[in-house]
Amino acid sequence: MAAPKYQAPRGTFDVLPESARVRGRIERTAAEIFSRAGYEPIATPNFEDTALFERGVGHSTDIVRKEMFTFEDKGGRSLTLRPEGTAPICRAYVEHGMQQLAQPVKLSYHGPFFRHERPQAGRYRQFHQLGIEAIGTESPLADAEVIELLAELLAELGVPGVELRLGSLGSLETRQAYLEELKAHLRAHEDELAKEVRERIEINPLRAFDSDDAGTQAVMATAPKLVERLEGDDAEHFAEVRALLDAAGVEYTIDPTLVRGLDYYTRTIFSFVCDRLGAQSEIGGGGRYDGLVEQLGGRPTPAVGWAAGIERIMLALDEEVAADGRDVFIAVAEDDQAKRRLAMVLVGELRKAGLSAELDLAGRALKGQLKQADRIGARRVLILDDEGAQLRDMASGEQRQVDTGKLVDEITGGEA
Ligand code: HAM
Repeated sequence: MAAPKYQAPRGTFDVLPESARVRGRIERTAAEIFSRAGYEPIATPNFEDTALFERGVGHSTDIVRKEMFTFEDKGGRSLTLRPEGTAPICRAYVEHGMQQLAQPVKLSYHGPFFRHERPQAGRYRQFHQLGIEAIGTESPLADAEVIELLAELLAELGVPGVELRLGSLGSLETRQAYLEELKAHLRAHEDELAKEVRERIEINPLRAFDSDDAGTQAVMATAPKLVERLEGDDAEHFAEVRALLDAAGVEYTIDPTLVRGLDYYTRTIFSFVCDRLGAQSEIGGGGRYDGLVEQLGGRPTPAVGWAAGIERIMLALDEEVAADGRDVFIAVAEDDQAKRRLAMVLVGELRKAGLSAELDLAGRALKGQLKQADRIGARRVLILDDEGAQLRDMASGEQRQVDTGKLVDEITGGEA
């Protein structure tokens, strides 16, 4: 077969009904968990001023340097398809004066995000995240709560092979002092490092921990670790987050080399990885971002949250959700205008009564209609023929004459 003339752009995909059913289950499960914990839904636009991400996500990140879908609108403004959701939510928090509300403001979201990355399994240019943010609290309880909610979501969905990695970046000052120490270490071993790591010693030395180059990994094994440099309030905060997770029975491993691809993180960072995912093993992650709201023009406001990739959850689950089936399929024995009109009226009545019902839209013969009823998993078929109306139970094959004037009662036994 020749390739179709038009195809979905590289790195994007169509959500077909069978995959939409799995997504539906994931989104409903998440919505229930978020709502039980008091995280209220928020939605922000799919594009924002480019400057929001440059400032919020950070100039040194891969996202801002290489991966944004940026375009000019007809008024010459630079806009960007959102690569992530936290900076837009903080923008909305400031714009709508949410700092006046009782704190923290607890929000949840889901939707499409866009990054111009090299496509591969689990990595797309348009993908979907769901996530939560607790804005306006520095309590370690908030860190532990959001982490626990992601653990609960993955457990309730039945995602196998999940492991939680936990780290802390300390405050901005601790991090600055540490980064100088780390750069000095990298400079001292410059010729053992991979070229791209060497080139980024000054702009983003932390990413060296992420490198898969053997020489770089050897250098990083002896590098100073940030978690070992935490002091005072930072160390106390991290200890309390761990104690709370222990108390809640959430298992984790401390990962002193954990880094994240966004600049706004402070203190707690975490990553849920899944062993079913191959190279793109992170299913969800996040952390604290105590400086972001202020950076975007708000009052100093500590906050913490995470996002998880819906496609990665789906890859890890590798499941199918069966279609629901239908309560009734209405078949018309002969192609007769009056019967077709009656079918139209009846299907409407059934649907209004809360039943799922379909009729033949393809002009099939009766045999074809019965086949279609079977295909869509109809539990009953109403056959309109010259004798009147016969209701057939598809499981037992039993058939009886019914009064179309009382169809809903006939089907529900008067309980609808
Ligand atoms: P992130 O780690 O960049 O964090 O993305 C979160 C999740 O989105 C990842 O763990 C992954 O599952 C999914 N993801 C990222 N890029 C792709 C892609 N190209 N294709 C498929 N899935 C992808 C954030 O976005 C932060 N805003 C999270 C956060 C919220 N931090 C604090 N609050």
